[in-house]
Amino acid sequence: MCGIIGYTGSSQALPVLVQGIRLLSYRGYDSAGVSIWNDGSLRIRKDQGRIEDLAPRWNPDELAGTAGIGHTRWATHGVPNMPNAHPQHDAGEQVAVVHNGILENDLALRERLEGEGVVFASDTDTEVFAHLFARSFEGDAVAAARSLLETCHGAFALAIQHASLPSTLVAVRRGSPLLIGLGVRENLVASDLRPLVGRADAVIELGEDQIALVTPDSVRLFGADGGEVEYATRPIDHSERDIGKDGYPHFMLKEIHEQPDRIYELIASRVDAERGAVRLDDVGITDDQWRRFERVDLIGCGTAFHACLYGAYVLESIAGIPARAVMAHEYEARAPRLNDRVLAIALSQSGETMDTKIAAQAAIDGGAHTLGVLNVRQSVIGRAVHGVLDIHAGPEVAVASTKVYTQMLCALLLLALRASQARGGDGRHLQELAPALKRLPDDVRAVLGRFDGVREAARDVRRAGDMLFLGRGYDAGTALEGALKMKEISYIHAEGYPAGEMKHGPIALVSREMPTVAIATEGPTRDRMIGNVREVRARDGEILLVATDGDVDAEKLADFVLWVPSVHPLIAPVVNVVPLQLLAYETARLRGCDVDQPRNLAKTVTVQ
Ligand code: M6R
Repeated sequence: MCGIIGYTGSSQALPVLVQGIRLLSYRGYDSAGVSIWNDGSLRIRKDQGRIEDLAPRWNPDELAGTAGIGHTRWATHGVPNMPNAHPQHDAGEQVAVVHNGILENDLALRERLEGEGVVFASDTDTEVFAHLFARSFEGDAVAAARSLLETCHGAFALAIQHASLPSTLVAVRRGSPLLIGLGVRENLVASDLRPLVGRADAVIELGEDQIALVTPDSVRLFGADGGEVEYATRPIDHSERDIGKDGYPHFMLKEIHEQPDRIYELIASRVDAERGAVRLDDVGITDDQWRRFERVDLIGCGTAFHACLYGAYVLESIAGIPARAVMAHEYEARAPRLNDRVLAIALSQSGETMDTKIAAQAAIDGGAHTLGVLNVRQSVIGRAVHGVLDIHAGPEVAVASTKVYTQMLCALLLLALRASQARGGDGRHLQELAPALKRLPDDVRAVLGRFDGVREAARDVRRAGDMLFLGRGYDAGTALEGALKMKEISYIHAEGYPAGEMKHGPIALVSREMPTVAIATEGPTRDRMIGNVREVRARDGEILLVATDGDVDAEKLADFVLWVPSVHPLIAPVVNVVPLQLLAYETARLRGCDVDQPRNLAKTVTVQ
């Protein structure tokens, strides 16, 4: 994912763009750049690195001008380097483009353009937009933008400058979000609200397949058919100015709702449907290494450990590599047998967790190959390990981890598919999962749309003193994660168990006073889960059931049903955890707890 910013007004554009890039850097920060209109030409500066290091190198005199676009990048197509940084441009530098999203028919369009004599200067999909726009522009920016919408597939938010249009920015949106900020004698374009606060009083949200022409004192919107369309503006309200919760009452709720977009970006940038492959080149594990690995150790704490449980299942079942999940603080004590045939994967949101850092260091010292599955690449763990798979969840502010968990699950699934590919797998899993992965953001979105059902259940469990969470197989970790969410923010004592363990002890706890949350969605474990539910029911236990739409038999056994859409069992944990996140959130809210900053906890645990 990337961040885009555009400015046109009466002030110098460079400082506005640099500040905008800074504020958008949570979206990606491996390279950055700007383009500024100056005396009939576009002055482009861009490079690999962070804006803090790049901006001091950009000479304000050379980049004088009052209209420009800027970008902060998270590499998807091509490594982070100067040619691949945005803005991308055509050969004559008449057009500059910044882009957030994925151009899905990149290969076909690139081949076509090359056939017409275009020489590409980068590996990015974005460069395609620059050449296409330059070739179709005959003085009419809306017509050129329309031709992009006709030719290009995928999700993209674009801000475009043309050397012949001194103070005009062209904005185009399909899929990826794009806002226009309305200021006084100046207007802006941005991926999100952050860089607009303080300069703009109101915003226009560009609609699907819409084009905008933005000048210092006008904004005109056009549909894909070229017809001008009316637009509504909305003021930036007080709470948005204050804390960046984007209108949500808590960061946790905002972060739960970010999941579909984050998942989409991760999957779309990594799954190459055209080639039937998973692209994880930046992880730095060669096919030969994948073939040599004899064991994978997944290490993490808390929510990250629950993701490890899922990771061990998918690496073993999809890629056929023996894999185990170990709590990071228990790793050294096991004196694990390590060598370069072991892959040790450290999972961490912060990349700073002391327990995980120490375990990762033990793996490095023991000679294992190490990989960080991290949300902060430039972190202590990120710098120590051999390679990083950046999950790009964006900043997670709430102490209770939500979007990072689902993002870690998706990243681990992609890793398992990549490992299977490298180890000579027949591609069956990816073939089977590709359509399910494509639908996954919408499936998660569907669960978010069912918050009312969750609210009803939360009104019931808010008075509970204890709760039990049960799941099996891929969803054993989901049960543990649901219990952790509940206990850490609502302070209700909650235990999570693989459901098969019930009869070995925990069933003694069952009573009317202790609600049991059971994950019994369709798939190989559904019937055995229903068996466990009957056992709880037979002892007068209250049941909250996570069940697949239409499962009327399961419904009969439940006091409350948290419905989820039918999804492939391998990715069901990503969907099934969402009602549990919402249940914990709503229960904590009803109990008057501090949802975002629960007692006794810290977001980053840098002590052992
Ligand atoms: O930053 P990390 O992912 O390494 O943090 C690990 C745990 O401290 C963290 O997941 C914790 O359990 C969360 N508060 C759970 O919501």
